[in-house]
Amino acid sequence: MNKNNQRNMQTSIDTQVEAGGSINGVVAVPGDKSCSHRSVIFASLAEGESNISGFLTGEDSLNTARAFQSMGVSIERSGETSLKIKGVGLHGLQQPSNDIYMGNAGTGMRLIAGILAAQQFDSTVSGDESLSRRPMGRIIKPLKMMSGSIEADDQGRPPLKIGSAGNGLTAIHYDLPVASAQVKSCVLLAGLYAQGITSVTEPAPTRDHTERMLRSFGYEVITRDNHISLEGQGTLKACDLEIPGDISSAAFLMVAASIANDSDVTIEGVGINPTRTGIIDILRLMGADIELKNERSAGDEPVADIRVKSAQLTGIDVPEHLVPLAIDELPVLFIAASVAEGTTRVTGAEELRVKESDRIAAMAEGLQNIGVDATATDDGMIINPSEITGGVVETHFDHRIAMSFCVAALRSSGPMLVKDTQHIHTSFPGFFTLMEKLGMTMTTTS
Ligand code: S3P
Repeated sequence: MNKNNQRNMQTSIDTQVEAGGSINGVVAVPGDKSCSHRSVIFASLAEGESNISGFLTGEDSLNTARAFQSMGVSIERSGETSLKIKGVGLHGLQQPSNDIYMGNAGTGMRLIAGILAAQQFDSTVSGDESLSRRPMGRIIKPLKMMSGSIEADDQGRPPLKIGSAGNGLTAIHYDLPVASAQVKSCVLLAGLYAQGITSVTEPAPTRDHTERMLRSFGYEVITRDNHISLEGQGTLKACDLEIPGDISSAAFLMVAASIANDSDVTIEGVGINPTRTGIIDILRLMGADIELKNERSAGDEPVADIRVKSAQLTGIDVPEHLVPLAIDELPVLFIAASVAEGTTRVTGAEELRVKESDRIAAMAEGLQNIGVDATATDDGMIINPSEITGGVVETHFDHRIAMSFCVAALRSSGPMLVKDTQHIHTSFPGFFTLMEKLGMTMTTTS
């Protein structure tokens, strides 16, 4: 993990994907991004040495590791996807000599802000062009309620300027206005430093990796229905963690195997935390052939091998309660919907507008460019069955938009030129190699 920040503009890469074909084989996907960020944060704040395996070596989680290294934490690569982290305890972080750079990672920035707001030093956190457009008001508001000193620009966008916590943070109860695991986690992380009980209520369930992983580090977190609380000023104890494969990455393979003809793919060791499996539920409602095998647990998270075979999908009205549980998978779900029989309607997904790109606008534009009858709405999309023709697609520098359109080529009549695919590396290093191993043909040009 060299400390050279990746601030330079990345070289632009376009990918030409051949039309049609089938995919077959047994593969594994890289480690879960949400768990990878959290593993570095908690191991850094724990007392003792933690060993993390299955860590995602994508740019997003590496930036979180670099951030903690810059605050004096010893983090070493002990294997290709393993880290050895010598925790400094809740109060052992040192002031970084430079701004902290989080690259493309909204999760990294929002979670680390909760920690930095509690420190006895000032800090500044910045990100790339995409992250610099993302709303931070949602974390600034609760952190200020906790007496944190934190400012963004006048539109609530990064960089974040975070002041020393002075007399310390105040415990609060916070009713989350949006179903966001990042905001929930930011408040709980700040709550680790506050005296007394910090709690949140969620309007709908969101991923609970923070709660599970804190417990793995020996920290008590109480969850009652939609109410989550912890008492501040305790201690995290180092532990060894195994991070499961990322279901958000597996989702591209699940859709790919479902829509391509004569396909049969098994993805081994994927996290199936019930707060993340919305994509499996939605695809099954559409008629997908998905089997979970060898269910087991990897530390605090449930894991399974997922076998997916080709199936004729049917359009559905996606139940709104599944939307937060599949929020990152909706772009690739739109690809599945394009070749389903009947109309698919997604509603209640307005959060997609503030992800790495405006994913409703980016997907509608790309789908229309490749011949799909897709209409963007304020909070989702309406997609009618279509013949995918192929064509040129802009990804708006968004990794998940890029991977979604690569997958769409499996059912198109002509090739697909997907622009700016370099950001795929933020969450799914090895994506092209893995898809080629399964049978796709892709050519990358820079
Ligand atoms: C994440 C939460 C989600 C998700 C993001 C990762 C996390 O964001 O979209 O990719 O690790 O907590 P929101 O909490 O903003 O919905």
